[in-house]
Amino acid sequence: MTERNTPVALAADHGGFALKEAIKAHLDERGIPYTDFGTDSTASCDYPDLAVLACDAVTAGQCGRAILCCGTGVGMSMCANKIRGIRACCCSDTFSAEFTRRHNDANALCLGGRVVGEGLALAIVDLFLDTEYEGGRHARRVDKIMALENR
Ligand code: RB5
Repeated sequence: MTERNTPVALAADHGGFALKEAIKAHLDERGIPYTDFGTDSTASCDYPDLAVLACDAVTAGQCGRAILCCGTGVGMSMCANKIRGIRACCCSDTFSAEFTRRHNDANALCLGGRVVGEGLALAIVDLFLDTEYEGGRHARRVDKIMALENR
């Protein structure tokens, strides 16, 4: 994938901080570059502030894909999907992670640090990063998703 040469944008709030740190260690092991947009502790903070930093880096082309962690993953996904150019999926299972890449060309993955264990989360991360978009019949549908931004 073309995004493979650009860093993964990482962001988390306090509820996702520990998972973000685990993901960083995993990406280090795999030799995958990333940019960490924070937060940098378990002190309470507001997930929209972090989501926008990572998503803006993706839409600006500085990062290829975003991985966003909060307590549930849901708040991060709500924020990310309001940002023009972002197609975010909140995943708690590997099937969704694979198919949101294959069919939706998702460019942001949202995870709940209070929902998924570390092992499952890292398996989801790997599928999100390693699975290619299929295009074909799905391109028409992804185009329609993006057209919703202009209503
Ligand atoms: C923070 O307590 C929590 O609301 C946040 O991490 C996230 O789960 C929101 O969707």
